[in-house]
Amino acid sequence: MCGIVGYIGNKNSVPIIIGGLKRLEYRGYDSAGVGILAGDECKVIKSVGKVAKLEQAIGNEQLESNTGIGHTRWATHGAPTETNAHPHFNKDRTICVIHNGIIENYSVLKKELQKKGYEFRSETDTEVLVHLIDSFVKKGNSLLNAVRKALIEVEGTFGLAVLSSKEPDKIIAARRGSPLVLGIGNNENFLASDVTALITHTSQIVYLDDDEIVEVYKDKFEAKTIHDEQIQKEIHEVKIALDEISKGGYPHFMLKEIMEQPESITNSMRGRLIYEEGTARLGGLRKAIDRLSDSKRIIISACGTSWHAGLVGEYMLEQFAGIPVEVEYASEFRYRNPIITKDDAMIFISQSGETADTLAAMREAKRRGALVLGVCNVVGSSIARESDAGVYIHAGPEIGVASTKAFTSQLVVLALITLLLARRKSLSEQDGKMIIKELQAIPEKVEQILKLNDQIEEIAKNFVDAKNFLYLGRGYNFPVALEGALKLKEISYIHAEGYPAAEMKHGPIALIDKNMPTVFLAPRDSVYDKILSNIEEVKAREGKIITISTEDDEKLDALSDYIIKIPGTIRMLMPILNVIPLQLLAYHIAVKKGLDVDQPRNLAKSVTVE
Ligand code: AGP
Repeated sequence: MCGIVGYIGNKNSVPIIIGGLKRLEYRGYDSAGVGILAGDECKVIKSVGKVAKLEQAIGNEQLESNTGIGHTRWATHGAPTETNAHPHFNKDRTICVIHNGIIENYSVLKKELQKKGYEFRSETDTEVLVHLIDSFVKKGNSLLNAVRKALIEVEGTFGLAVLSSKEPDKIIAARRGSPLVLGIGNNENFLASDVTALITHTSQIVYLDDDEIVEVYKDKFEAKTIHDEQIQKEIHEVKIALDEISKGGYPHFMLKEIMEQPESITNSMRGRLIYEEGTARLGGLRKAIDRLSDSKRIIISACGTSWHAGLVGEYMLEQFAGIPVEVEYASEFRYRNPIITKDDAMIFISQSGETADTLAAMREAKRRGALVLGVCNVVGSSIARESDAGVYIHAGPEIGVASTKAFTSQLVVLALITLLLARRKSLSEQDGKMIIKELQAIPEKVEQILKLNDQIEEIAKNFVDAKNFLYLGRGYNFPVALEGALKLKEISYIHAEGYPAAEMKHGPIALIDKNMPTVFLAPRDSVYDKILSNIEEVKAREGKIITISTEDDEKLDALSDYIIKIPGTIRMLMPILNVIPLQLLAYHIAVKKGLDVDQPRNLAKSVTVE
């Protein structure tokens, strides 16, 4: 949530910051602001709405400085107004601060500061920080020490950057629980909450860890812990091509990312299939594989779409590897008293690798002695770095807030983990080879499904005014029903529910009437006949039926109002194919409603607050 950019060097910081904020807008987009050093003061410009609005506001100003910071906000404390937007500044405007995260003890700190005479302009928790830093500066501390001491008093999470006109040669940055990276340039340095904001400037990246603080000058940086211990930070070479983070001719990132799936799926399995042995090779799991395959239980934990991927993983692992699996919402797992033993392995799935609940659950599992594995997309993310071992899904940057290609790549990686474990157990080489063949055929089949885009767009036209949607599937396809419903909710704001199809008669059937569209996932598998009965039940109540079935099916034509026929594969891989029409359906409905599919209201790509 929220994006941070900072620049110090010889160039004008303002266009660099605006460019970076635009790349980070997926993290939060309800308001934005920049702060630069201008003589004895920090000059701050803010605006409500997207970064383009801020750019317009800046357009009228002569804004130029070699040092500046910028922020795009996803509101937590206080409405998205200009006053609540960042940067926040002290009374004499010598210090300004941008912040991601939440200051949990802000009301206590605020009261203490108010007693000392500090006046607050905004309703934000962040404003506490700037006055707290100011109070330490006024006691004679350097900016670094003032920020350090302020952060020691703070409970909660932060990724922040601080400017002071009294110490104009530096930016101070620090992190706890909210990602922050430093980009190293030639006589210039950068800060950002995500590498993608910096890739046009540098590929030399330093990842800050929790409770680290850094003094960033134009030609050097010095890192410490907030408790004043010196630390050495490693510089990483990070390569992301520009076309990976641009729309590439598509009207939206979401559509681009849906269309990229043949390639992203291929990348997720590249070099990882060993056909001759009917198994998978996952370098990131090498040091953990014995413990993983000996584990008595696997717990998968994640949020949102990644949690749906985990549910599919449960079916795969139990069916083929014979290990009991539980799937937990990370947000629930961390707040109960879960029974975890050293014989348990936990897999944390996260596209961003920064989701606060997933990260906290992972740390708790680690404390309790479980083997902790990460399945992440973003290289170098917190979950990837803090897990004992893990597998990158290699889907490439996902910018659209609604997750699409990350989901299918997560499923591929879960299939690979299943294959690897199952072959160490009882799966035969022949069956392993069969799974590999099916996996290898997936990108081509996805390509075929994507050719149905026009047909799906036509279907979407009929549902622009729908108020509710039901998604039904069984077995492996029940999580796909959940994912289809989530996609529709997120971007079209149509209420949608996913259910196991057999549960329909236990309640949701009461909703069925001629205005209620129901999407059925009905591939030809062992529960096909049962699904058929569920379709009949909806038909009998005049519900509108949209069916996703396999090409070899004709039975469903007469029963369905709309039918999308896709290629088939083995059951464990069918979710990868079934979800694609659902992604396209949600996308087209939202576009036809004139909504902002890449940045839907109230959402942010990376949920780094609890
Ligand atoms: C998916 O479309 C969502 N925007 C959201 O549910 C997301 O999957 C969830 O926040 C988890 O994110 P992560 O995978 O980055 O941890």
